[in-house]
Amino acid sequence: MPISYNEQERIFRLDTPRTTYLCGLAGSENFLGHVYYGPRVPDDNMGYLLRLEERPFTPDGNPGERASFYDCFPFEYPAWGGGNFRQPCLRTAQGGGSCELFYDSHRVFPGKPPLEGLPAAYGENCSTLEIVLRDPVSDIKVHLLYTVFEDVDVITRSARVENGGSAAVDLTAALSASLELDNEDFDLITLHGSWAREQTIDRRPLASGKQAAFSLRGISSHQFHPFLALCEHSAAQEHGLVYGMSFIYSGNFLAQAELDQFNKVRAVLGIHPDGFSWRLEPGASFQTPEAALVCSGEGLGGMSRAYHDFFRRHLIRGQSKRRPTLLNSWEACYFDFDHDRLLHLGQEAAKYGVELLVVDDGWFGRREDANSSLGDWRVNEEKLPGGLKHLGEELAELGVDLGVWMEPEMISPDSELYRAHPDYAMAIPGRTPSLARDQYVLDLTRREVRDCVYEQISAVLRSAPISYVKWDMNRPLTDVYSPSLPRSRQGETAHRYVLGLYELQERLVTDFPDILLENCCSGGGRFDPGMLYYSPQIWTSDNAEAVDRLVIQEGTSLIYPLSAMGAHVAACPSHVNGRITPFQVRGRVSLPGCFGYELDLDKLSPEEQALIPGQLEEYRRCGPIFRGGDCYRLASYRENGAYDAIMAVTKDKSAAVVSFVQVRSRAYRRSLRLKLAGLEESALY
Ligand code: GLA
Repeated sequence: MPISYNEQERIFRLDTPRTTYLCGLAGSENFLGHVYYGPRVPDDNMGYLLRLEERPFTPDGNPGERASFYDCFPFEYPAWGGGNFRQPCLRTAQGGGSCELFYDSHRVFPGKPPLEGLPAAYGENCSTLEIVLRDPVSDIKVHLLYTVFEDVDVITRSARVENGGSAAVDLTAALSASLELDNEDFDLITLHGSWAREQTIDRRPLASGKQAAFSLRGISSHQFHPFLALCEHSAAQEHGLVYGMSFIYSGNFLAQAELDQFNKVRAVLGIHPDGFSWRLEPGASFQTPEAALVCSGEGLGGMSRAYHDFFRRHLIRGQSKRRPTLLNSWEACYFDFDHDRLLHLGQEAAKYGVELLVVDDGWFGRREDANSSLGDWRVNEEKLPGGLKHLGEELAELGVDLGVWMEPEMISPDSELYRAHPDYAMAIPGRTPSLARDQYVLDLTRREVRDCVYEQISAVLRSAPISYVKWDMNRPLTDVYSPSLPRSRQGETAHRYVLGLYELQERLVTDFPDILLENCCSGGGRFDPGMLYYSPQIWTSDNAEAVDRLVIQEGTSLIYPLSAMGAHVAACPSHVNGRITPFQVRGRVSLPGCFGYELDLDKLSPEEQALIPGQLEEYRRCGPIFRGGDCYRLASYRENGAYDAIMAVTKDKSAAVVSFVQVRSRAYRRSLRLKLAGLEESALY
């Protein structure tokens, strides 16, 4: 049994193929404490690790006293109060914010329940432990869910907070998971960035106090990623102990590690408590999003491969969808196109065997630049006579599929929708809302707003043979206020927005199961596991310039399978950073992801055009190995400043592929040896 309870020791045990997680009850009051998470161990009588008998610090003569106990106990789900001065997972606005959580009951069952309205892992070959904690004063109950999978070294966690009392409760913090670890000379790894520089790996020694990656932008953001890892200082790609925490969520988040006075670490993950509140009437519940925990004894590569398998098998519902090679109109012509121009791009695609033409921004309303028409999802028939239907039919004759770009969460002040319903845009009463990219954010917390958008976009999708949608989102949330909620409950708005977004994407993938959905957020501003539940691939960055892309894709591959990464050969010199990179190198860098072109193929030199068939053939041959195999990062250009190499091996180890990119020459002009990984030792490749 992957989950068991040792009644004598009062220890819960969860096993994945190669890791063990133990938590247990402590003291006569039954506090739930974290005991162990690490490589698999045979015994579960390890309650001594809770160190209940130890005196926390000298002036405190009585280790049994409440305050000192709370100050150091490794709570499995810490609540605020009583002397827990470290980051809590649970806090309320009532009763001084305090809660005391004691074990109430537990149950173990096969499978895993869905989390209502939220993206969450799924699967048959898994078991779930539910531990219920209860605060006797407020009658708040916390249902902790732990799921272990038989085929991946991942444990998912979430919490459902239930108000069992007779008065309303306002939650001011409800995080998803907390992990208590002994500091093993840890480094903290987070991903940071900006527009066109997403997902850059940041590794530094863990210092005293709190260090966090977070977002308060309403989206998971370009700036930080909903993830953290703690690893031994000596850990490298293929050795050393690493803990990863990844958040299956797309809005405000906090991923924080806190090193305390006793050299212990509390790592928490969840919705950011800043600005958050949630009213729970008696009997009501709040379900937190899910966190996915990994412990790898095989370094960062081991952690990545565990996440890759987990996301591919247990989260990304469209994983098995065919990933066509595509030609995207954005860097080819921006807003400057009409039917004939697009048809011409389609003919170019057909000439080389590119399978899909994506009509990016500019086909709807009166959209001639980024200043208008978001919200008016009707084809501009002046540009496209006969609509997308006519274009789609002509492309079909060429053997090319049709895809479209949309930005359904937005509204331009210059739009018919805004003129009819200015209140659909999020705004704080009495204040001028902040424009960004000349647009406002729709209030997706409101059903009538979601319905209005959905009716429009679904009509477009029904009107033409569309097989692919790029769902974009090009600004952060600023004026987070909804008239659908009273003033006292505006702390719910940001999360309700994300729930509204999830509901919209769920409708789309349910009503149009054959469409391939690719999410995008000014590039990778919302590249997170939550969005991957709906779309199997995400546009990784607006920066497709090959050298910068190596760094972005390295960071992305730390967590996400290469099959999730949109990767295109873009125009040169790069429209983003001006760099000139050979066509061949641009192709090589895009090869491991979901491959496409984002330029006018006609404008390439004959020599470059001659390389296209080879690139597409390489992608057909090697793409499936990168997307479905085990991935090894052999060399990092970010670290060595000269070259980069990534490798993938099929699951049965029958084939392998290596992509190598030399960025700068090295002073000592000798070729170098690249040490491969993951191969069958006795096989010849
Ligand atoms: C965002 C996307 C781009 C492109 C433009 C269109 O910036 O990231 O790929 O679709 O919007 O406006």
